[in-house]
Amino acid sequence: MKAEELRKKYLDFFKSHGHAIIPSASLIPENDPTVLFTTAGMHPLVPFLLGETHPAGKRLANIQKCIRTTDIEEVGDSWHLTFFEMLGNWSLGDYFKKEAIEMSWEFLTGKNWLGIDPEKIYVTVFEGDNDAPRDEESISFWQEQYKKSGMDARLDERIFALPKKDNWWGPAGETGPCGPDTEMFYDTGKIKCLPSCRPGCGCGKYVEIWNDVFMEFNKTKEGRFIPLKQKNVDTGMGLERTSAVLQGYDSVYKTELFNPIIKKIIELAFIRNETYPEQKIRLIADHTRAVVFILGDNKMIVPANIEQGYILRRLIRITLRTLKQIGSPDFVLDKIAKTVIDTYKKNYPELQKNESFILEQLQKEEKIFIRTLEKGLKEFNKMARDKKITGKEAFILFSTYGFPFEMTRDLAKESGIEINPAEFKKEYENHQKMSRLATEVRFKGGLADHTEKTTKLHTATHLLQAALRKVLGNHVCQKGSNITSERLRFDFSHDKKMTAEQINETEILINQAIMRAFAVKFEEMSLDDAKNSGALGLFEHKYGDRVKVYTIYDEKTGEVFSREVCGGPHVNNVKELKNFRIIKEEASSAGIRRIKAVVGKN
Ligand code: ALA
Repeated sequence: MKAEELRKKYLDFFKSHGHAIIPSASLIPENDPTVLFTTAGMHPLVPFLLGETHPAGKRLANIQKCIRTTDIEEVGDSWHLTFFEMLGNWSLGDYFKKEAIEMSWEFLTGKNWLGIDPEKIYVTVFEGDNDAPRDEESISFWQEQYKKSGMDARLDERIFALPKKDNWWGPAGETGPCGPDTEMFYDTGKIKCLPSCRPGCGCGKYVEIWNDVFMEFNKTKEGRFIPLKQKNVDTGMGLERTSAVLQGYDSVYKTELFNPIIKKIIELAFIRNETYPEQKIRLIADHTRAVVFILGDNKMIVPANIEQGYILRRLIRITLRTLKQIGSPDFVLDKIAKTVIDTYKKNYPELQKNESFILEQLQKEEKIFIRTLEKGLKEFNKMARDKKITGKEAFILFSTYGFPFEMTRDLAKESGIEINPAEFKKEYENHQKMSRLATEVRFKGGLADHTEKTTKLHTATHLLQAALRKVLGNHVCQKGSNITSERLRFDFSHDKKMTAEQINETEILINQAIMRAFAVKFEEMSLDDAKNSGALGLFEHKYGDRVKVYTIYDEKTGEVFSREVCGGPHVNNVKELKNFRIIKEEASSAGIRRIKAVVGKN
């Protein structure tokens, strides 16, 4: 079964079980400062897992584009990827373990669905600890399923109970929704690496294809697990992996999702001999997919030394270096990228829309890299003379010559020198770039901690757009938004610098709304009704047909200040914001201005 058929079957199956199909969210999280990238389908759904109502209902499913750099060292093996598509279904306080397991089983083994031989499927469950008990329910629900196929699914033979490090998922940041999970593995038929080999062993015999998470806890900053208001199910199935096993392959790289990309790399790098450097080619294919999807995400992220831009730069430069290692000429990365765009544009039209941006950025970054590479290598050789590279030196190579840490580390390894990653990290943090290097997790506090602050700033963003339209005119329209726990950033269409009076007037309008304690309410309606009601629709058709419309208004007079289509969450009353202040107004790009603002500051 090709990936395209799997995508369709998955969505059809969950639709037939009452799930609303929602679109993939952006790879760059909106209004969430805790992570750099969307790492799982649950991520954009965090407010709804915590209890916010979702306009599309309590049963949802989708295909989410995801980036995970935590597995980056594994990339090049048979199964790990930096970018992948996650098939997911959710129950927001609706069904729980029994139905989730029944549906997973039906989809995996049902003749109309994947039709996998039950003998090939192994599962794991949570073994229990001080935070939550052993998951006896899941064990018995799985046993019921296997029984339907005439199998006696015994513990430690077919079902394995494993500790938290294996069978607990989340939170995505350091705090937030999480819970025990049950994972489904496919037996590839390979020989066991050891007699004790079991699902969860990394040798490649058992490949994890699906994870059902029973999200019933919220992890606090203190590390406690507090029961959530509602019991949720969050599942994730890797499209590339499942498609590979369904096609009988022992690696994701053998599927049609990678074939054209790998063929292109071999062709462009002039690889002729049979024993080509497979791992390196896989890495190039993986990283090129990731950079194409990051650049193509409508958020116009560009290579930089911080945040998403740094991950992007790191992926591009590692790819360029790997291409060099396999003997490729310069300026082939954009051509490989074009093949990625062609492979994916049908399912992800944003790649086609942003094609010239993607290709230009790759060419530009390669030119910059070529310019600094030679100088950087000279510097590296100087440093390497005394057979030691300090964290400080690795940082200089990074900040002045743009060497990703991994590249310096690999170069050092080739010259028989060790570098301590912790030393480099410390140096990096000392330079106040924050600890965003090894992982996507940005703030120690995690999402739940920041929810309160970001929720206020999110409501302030609605007030700001409404106020700007009153002060500057109705041509003002949101072009971008980014919220950290410190400030909001709002990009909007307007082609002149704002005057001091206009800035002042905008602040006054918003502070008046705050003083008059305008209420915030939401209603669910169809997208058409929302448009007819005068709500500003800022984003694409994000939640399918039903949308939430948030109104900020005076409860006494009914006067409406702002009305927007938005997923939420928001504060209940704008008086919670205390006050609002613009700290910067500047140009963002042609015809677009950018405002940074804060709330609750004296
Ligand atoms: N969020 C879960 C995962 O990523 C489903 O595995």
